[in-house]
Order: sequence, then C-alpha cells, then structure tokens
Amino acid sequence: MALVHVPIKDNEYDILVERGSLGNIGEIAKSVLKKGARVLIVTDENVEPLYGDAVRNSLSAAGINSITMILKPGESSKSYKTLESIYSFAFTNKLTRADAIVALGGGIVGDVAGFAAATIFRGIDYIGVPTSLLAQVDSSVGGKVAINTEFGKNLVGAFYQPKCVLIDPNTIKTLTPEYFSDGMAEVIKYGCIKSETLFDTLNNNSEHLEGLLEEIIVQCCSIKADVVLIDERDTGERMVLNFGHTVGHALEKAYGSKGLSHGVGVHIGMCVMAKYGEKLGITENGTAKQIIECGHKYGLSDKYEIEDMQVLADAMNLDKKSDSEEINIVLLEKIGKAIIKKVNKRDFIKDLSELLN
Ligand SMILES: NC(=O)c1ccc[n+]([C@@H]2O[C@H](COP(=O)([O-])OP(=O)(O)OC[C@H]3O[C@@H](n4cnc5c(N)ncnc54)[C@H](O)[C@@H]3O)[C@@H](O)[C@H]2O)c1
Repeated sequence: MALVHVPIKDNEYDILVERGSLGNIGEIAKSVLKKGARVLIVTDENVEPLYGDAVRNSLSAAGINSITMILKPGESSKSYKTLESIYSFAFTNKLTRADAIVALGGGIVGDVAGFAAATIFRGIDYIGVPTSLLAQVDSSVGGKVAINTEFGKNLVGAFYQPKCVLIDPNTIKTLTPEYFSDGMAEVIKYGCIKSETLFDTLNNNSEHLEGLLEEIIVQCCSIKADVVLIDERDTGERMVLNFGHTVGHALEKAYGSKGLSHGVGVHIGMCVMAKYGEKLGITENGTAKQIIECGHKYGLSDKYEIEDMQVLADAMNLDKKSDSEEINIVLLEKIGKAIIKKVNKRDFIKDLSELLN
C-alpha cells in the first residue's frame, strides 16, 4: 500500500492508495475513527450498486454498523436541498458526535458529504473514499468541501480535513471514458505545474496507463498535498492548482449545458494559458503544442466553438477567483514550473478572445 502523509497542523491524516483496498475499509476505519463509531455512508446511485456492498461488508466485518444514504448523481446534488436531506437522514437515524461519515463516490459526493461532516455537530469525523479519477487525484485531497448556490459553484463551504482518504485505483475501471478523460485533464495539470517527469510519463504511456495508475495517483496526491501544506486556506501558492481553471470553469459554465465537460474545459484552459504565456514571452515556446498533444492522447480536445466571447467574459467576471480590475492568472515558465501573475482583466479577456478563436 502506498501512503501519502498530509501533516496539516492538528489535522494530519494519510491518503492510502492500493488496488483492492475498498475491501479493507473496515479495519482502516476502525484505526482512525472513535471507538464504537457508527458510519453514515453517503454515495450516489451509480456508485452504490458497484461498491456499496463491498464497503458495508468490510465495515460490518470490522464490527462497525453503517447506514447508507444514496444521492442522485450530478452537480444538482451539491445543493442546500441535498445537505438538508443528509442532515435529516443523520438526525432521524440518531447519529451522534462520536459517529462518522464515509463519502463514497466522485467529487460531488465528496464535496457535499464532506460539508455535511464539517457542519453536523460543528464537525464529525469523515473518511473520503473517492471513486472517480478526478476525485482520487484532486477533490479528495486538500480539505475543501462545498455546495453550489444559484450564484455559482462552491460558494458555500469549509476547509475540513478527513480522518483519512482511501483510494482504490481499481474503481477507475468502471468509470465512463468521458469521466476518465475529465480526471486525466487534472493529472496532466499536475505534470504541467509541478512535474516534467509526470508529464513525460503521461505523454509516453497513453497506451498502457492502466498499469501505472496507482503510481500516478500517488504522485498527483503528493503534489497536491505539498501545495496544500504551504497554503491550506487558498490565499497564495494553492492558486497554481487552478492552472487552466479560470478559463475552464468559464467554458464549463457557459457551455456545460451543451455538452462541454469539465475536463475539456480545463484542457482548453491550459492550452490557452500556455499560448498566452508564450505570447507574453514567459512560457517556453512549444509548451502549448506539448499540452495539446498530450491531451489528445486522453480524449481531450483543445478546441470549442465559442459563439459569444462576452458570455465567457461574463462567466469569468463572476468567478469567485476574480477581483476588481486585475486578475491573478497561473502561467507556466515551462512544463513542470508554474508561476502566478497579476494582469489587467480587460486586456486578458481581449487577448483570450484572439487565442480561443
Ligand atoms: N473539493 C475540491 O477541492 C474539488 C476539486 C476539484 C473538483 N471538485 C468538485 O468535484 C466535482 C466533480 O467531481 P467528479 O468529476 O468526480 O464528478 P462526479 O462526482 O459527478 O462523478 C462523476 C460521475 O462518475 C460516477 N462515478 C464515480 N465513481 C465511479 C466509478 N468508480 N465507476 C462508475 N461511475 C462512477 C458518478 O456517479 C458520476 O456520475 C465538481 O462538483 C467539482 O466542483 C472539488
């Protein structure tokens, strides 16, 4: 079993990565939760039939009683309504301060169940069991939990660290190709911002990545954990994790309903930021081409027909990462080295429209 230790002050925990480890969750939970704790498993309708029994059986074999709440899959579940229903389920079933939540699923389950854990009795224990690639390499690490509001994504939430994160890379086998590509956009991002070696591995092994997944997940979690340690509350360095995301989120917001996925949005965002960096003379020439080609190997397009640049500009203005007339953006000096730069928002949007079209 590979282990990434996250030594956050007063809240340290381990990320355990091992094929087949879902079957050991009982013993792992017993070692990190309070004695006699019951567990509320929060999952969704896709993940429950695949992995619900394995988790319940393992918990039960370790003497841990569990109850299960199953959410509808999709972003609409990251809502006040879902949160309220988790609270009702928890209190109807007499959950106590000594009990815990296990978030079994993708980033959506992780975010909403984690926020429920952060707020029930002002915080009960929780264990993240991410089952999508995106959740395994990104959302389950770092302690950000949140729900969406009508004003935007992730606007209400908390920084709340789990007791441990248990990653079973075998669960990736049942993901749809689209969600696998979504996760790969984040994996490529880690290579872009922090590790040329990881980027090269992705570039050279697209045909047999499955065998390398465990190692790749560990590398991504380590990179994210290192960044989070420097900047747990997201006030500086952590921004490098958003490479490609300002544009990506705006694209997703503007065109998500027309089928543009998170991963494609982020990939286009990374390609555009690399082109922008090259235009400014900050990014090594040829970097954008490398990212474009790497993304193509994992089903990530670098193009999308932008019908109305204003829609995108509006989406970016509303992004919670924007402020006043200036915007912080993440650029690459080269693959493996990201920097943060402040630029004028209006100029940036003007340049973007040229680079995107
Ligand atoms: N908290 C953070 O730091 C952070 C970081 C990045 C993203 N996020 C959030 O994560 C969410 C996206 O996460 P996601 O891409 O995992 O989406 P998701 O939770 O919707 O999961 C993707 C889809 O795959 C299904 N699924 C999950 N695991 C599966 C498996 N093993 N086999 C088959 N199907 C499976 C889910 O039911 C869902 O339909 C967004 O809401 C985003 O805001 C949070």
